[in-house]
Amino acid sequence: RLRAAHSLSWLSAQTGDHPSRLLHHPWRDNPYPTFRRMRSQGPFTTSKLGFRSANTYEAVSTLLRSRDFGVQPPAGAALPGQFDIIDLSFLTLDPPEHTRLRALARPAFSPSRMAGYRTEIEKITHELLDTATARRDFDLMRDFAQPLPIAVISRLLGIPESDDARFVQIGHTIGGALDGARSAGHLRRIDKASAELDALFDRLMAERRTRPREDVISALVAEADDGALTPAALRAMCRLLLVAGFETTVNLIGNGVMALLRHREQWERLVQDPGLAPGAVEEVLRFDSPVQMTTRWAHTESTVQGRRLQPGDYALCLIGSANRDPDRFEDPDRFDITREDASDHLSFSSGAHYCLGAPLARLEGEIALRALAERLPRLRPTAVPTRRGTTVVRSLSRFPVTTGTP
Ligand code: HEM
Repeated sequence: RLRAAHSLSWLSAQTGDHPSRLLHHPWRDNPYPTFRRMRSQGPFTTSKLGFRSANTYEAVSTLLRSRDFGVQPPAGAALPGQFDIIDLSFLTLDPPEHTRLRALARPAFSPSRMAGYRTEIEKITHELLDTATARRDFDLMRDFAQPLPIAVISRLLGIPESDDARFVQIGHTIGGALDGARSAGHLRRIDKASAELDALFDRLMAERRTRPREDVISALVAEADDGALTPAALRAMCRLLLVAGFETTVNLIGNGVMALLRHREQWERLVQDPGLAPGAVEEVLRFDSPVQMTTRWAHTESTVQGRRLQPGDYALCLIGSANRDPDRFEDPDRFDITREDASDHLSFSSGAHYCLGAPLARLEGEIALRALAERLPRLRPTAVPTRRGTTVVRSLSRFPVTTGTP
């Protein structure tokens, strides 16, 4: 089960603000000065409420890689007020069950599958841009960054187009769970959407059982029939792929275009040479990570950057801060799409939980940025983008732009 990360309470302890004010706090627009201050305090910060964060590249990467830490609390440990939101399969499990379930999902992201997805993603990308640019002004998030990954994950899972609209609504509600539930009402909406999604997946699985296709659900149904997956585990895995597909790549594209247009000379370089797109994707991931933080529990006693951690200690791993650590990246606040070591970022996590969808996200990001640079060299913002009220996921809701054509 995905646990609420207490991110708001934790941040409020850092900034001295009431959690509700943080929704409007400048922190949300630009967390990087706060991260810089925290790194200057050392590899870890512990707030008055007892929340611990890992701030530096070395501390975050050690917590993510080392077998001494896990995503589940060790027996007996718990966080006050912590509650379960939704079952997201192996994302929230430790080995050995994590290893077994992850192996079942891995074939969907194999290099041969990726090669097969390229043409499909290019087609979706150009169709979306055809529609969006029928007008000079459009919204980069609503008309492009949001629908692209959703269409890709829907096709990958094999969702029939007739179910698309409902699927999108459900996906947005459940995807919000990554940031924790904000109220009892929000939690109820997540539960309701989750039940509806189970029904949709059950129907699809029954169909694929009789008539299998070349999609991920058909492959997982075959595993389930071999006894490797219970029906509940199968649903949780589909839910994980859905949420991962809905809530992340959209922000790689949104944050990426925002960074490129704010550093116009970098945009011009990409326009001159669209072959720089893969490097641009890595630098965007480093510079403004779509997933800003994750959590780990200490399972055994260990020492990280000179700090002793005890079993049951819990830490927010600040990915966004690690990616701006000057001890790891030279001049880390400079956005440079030709930076050679940008791909050492921790935006896809590291170690056992390294993002399974990274090849897909990279492919989508590359195709999207390349298509924009090739087709819309004069792209520019027409208003300040609107930020979503999220903390774990760094996300824009609206980004008005113009194609710049006379
Ligand atoms: C795990 C980031 C796109 C599927 C993760 C984690 C991060 C992450 C940080 C690990 C969290 C942790 O260690 O606690 C991202 C980013 C993406 C992206 C930044 C886009 C730019 C995708 C896509 C998919 C996907 C498109 C698939 C459709 C997964 C899965 C896991 C995962 C299945 C769980 C891996 C495991 O627990 O072993 N992702 N992700 N991700 N991601 Fe992604």
